Amino acid sequence: MTNALPIGHILQNEYKIERILGAGGFGITYLARDINLNYLVVIKEFLPQDMAARDQSRINVTPFTKDTKSYDHLLKRFSEEAQLLAKMRHPNIVKVIRFFKANNTAYFVMEYAEGETLKEYLQRHKTLNEEEILAIMMPILEGAKYVHEQGFLHRDIAPDNIYLTKKGMPILIDFGAARDAIAEESKNISSIVKEGYSSPEQYTINNKQNASSDIYALGAVFYRLITGKVPTNAPQRQTALLNDEADPIGDISKEYEGKYSPQLLHAVKKALNIRATDRFPSVSSFQKALTGASIVDSRPGPTSRHIGSAPEKENSDIDKKNNNGLIAAFIVVLFLLLAGIGYVYMNQGTPQTQVSQSSAATPTVESVTVPADTKNEELERTKRELEELKRKQAEAEKQRQLEIERQKQQAEAERLRKEREEIEKLKEEKARAQREELERLRREKAERERQAAANIPREKVISFSENGIDIHLTYPSVVRAGQKFTISAKMTNKYGTAKQGGLTLSFPDMISIPGRSLQNSFSRIDGYSYPQKIWNKQARRARPATYFMVEGWQSKPWRYGQTKYFTVELTAPSNLTELKVNVRGVLWIRNKHDLREIPSSSYIYDQQGFAVKQFTIKIK
Ligand SMILES: Nc1ncnc2c1ncn2[C@@H]1O[C@H](COP(=O)(O)OP(=O)(O)O)[C@@H](O)[C@H]1O
Ligand SMILES: [Mg+2]
Repeated sequence: MTNALPIGHILQNEYKIERILGAGGFGITYLARDINLNYLVVIKEFLPQDMAARDQSRINVTPFTKDTKSYDHLLKRFSEEAQLLAKMRHPNIVKVIRFFKANNTAYFVMEYAEGETLKEYLQRHKTLNEEEILAIMMPILEGAKYVHEQGFLHRDIAPDNIYLTKKGMPILIDFGAARDAIAEESKNISSIVKEGYSSPEQYTINNKQNASSDIYALGAVFYRLITGKVPTNAPQRQTALLNDEADPIGDISKEYEGKYSPQLLHAVKKALNIRATDRFPSVSSFQKALTGASIVDSRPGPTSRHIGSAPEKENSDIDKKNNNGLIAAFIVVLFLLLAGIGYVYMNQGTPQTQVSQSSAATPTVESVTVPADTKNEELERTKRELEELKRKQAEAEKQRQLEIERQKQQAEAERLRKEREEIEKLKEEKARAQREELERLRREKAERERQAAANIPREKVISFSENGIDIHLTYPSVVRAGQKFTISAKMTNKYGTAKQGGLTLSFPDMISIPGRSLQNSFSRIDGYSYPQKIWNKQARRARPATYFMVEGWQSKPWRYGQTKYFTVELTAPSNLTELKVNVRGVLWIRNKHDLREIPSSSYIYDQQGFAVKQFTIKIK
């Protein structure tokens, strides 16, 4: 199957394709596994063979023509019908559990049931006896009746679409969602009929089908089970009848007389009428005719055998009267018994079976109120009817139990699904909470940074005169630990021409920071500076002060009135809560050793009391 999804492909993150079960004219059926809940499902994929195929991806479906209108239309029809199908619940029709669109097509997911198709079953059994036929077909008729009540047609009833589950439940599968729409679009009749089973109207374009079309197909299945042969296809039968030839399917009511009950044979014959209006108008009338239980069915025809329709001849024979009395008593007791079971059942069972139960129970009332004929045959027949009734009750009870079991399983699957959803939800909520927490932290950090950034401009400016220099100093009043900040100075010579001059900054508290050289804290210095050199030089004479000097402009004399600028960028030490800074200005008037300090002549590295201006930067 080159056109099918690859085995192992995971659909919707949920279903792993395990096997291809079938490929009909309008779709592919897969066996797949729900990988979350680990159970098998059957998935039907919409893929009308003569309209579309998979593209190179082997996953996506693309229509053959560029004009995708008719494909889209069909896909829409398929989806609509699948969604309706998904709402149906009946023990005898396959249960659709999900519908979804993907890969430019659509899918519905059905419950998988272990078992085999009737077609497969028939490979081992050529024909079946009446009891076997009814055991399979009565539930199938129930299913078909339910489908019709929902306003649906199956359109492809045949042994390959009747599935016999291992649990003994016959179910209808393979609903022809959009099958007639496909017929209209493709104009390819052969792709949508099933030889022998499709009704005559299915062979004609635009001939609308109704319930009796499914009834024809049901009749054809009965025919197959009785005769071992697939009925001749409808057009051939039509031709024969037009030519006044014998019906190629023969007359089963004669050919199989004695082997099957007359009501069964007549009902099947009627269901297989070429003219739709000659068939049964509804599945329930077909059902009644099959078992001969049609008291209320006023329609004439081969199915008119009523239980209560025995000749109403008076009987003079005392023995026979007694006999009748006994029969009546027996029937009354049995009826009460069955009515009791029926009542209990009706209060629990499915509505479809209730109907058949109550209608099946009616004849016994009829036979009590109308005195039966004197013949023993009548007793026999009544017994048979009662046997039949009992069998049906047992069958209904079995179905009810199976349905209860099915519902239990469904509830369990539903519970697991909810649990999984719950877990998913919890996971999602946790992830969301984490995301939100992260987001909150990010916002807080951003806010802190914003505030910190807002702190930086809180600059202070101090102005003073030092040793003949006017100094304007700008620095931040608060910084964050580890934050880079700058101190800048504007210096104007108010003394007279000097050979060199500048500014010293010293940090008294930083002396005590072991292993921390001043240089490490300075990341950028504008202007001329060599703190290291001075440091070393002074270290010989005194305790080293952490200080920094900008000497600057060595080669050029600094004239009176001239302004110089100096900026230093440094990182706030994280082990201090505030940074003290001492500032002083220095002029070097003539040569290296004639350093002018006005008014003080003391050397600079002593931190205490020499024309020092001190300010503090707070560290947060
Ligand atoms: N619910 C189900 N459980 C088990 N097997 C199924 C189920 N539905 C379909 N199958 C199997 O898959 C085959 C193909 O499915 P079907 O719906 O009849 O599609 P098509 O006839 O279009 O190929 C059936 O003949 C049957 O063997
Ligand atoms: Mg099929």
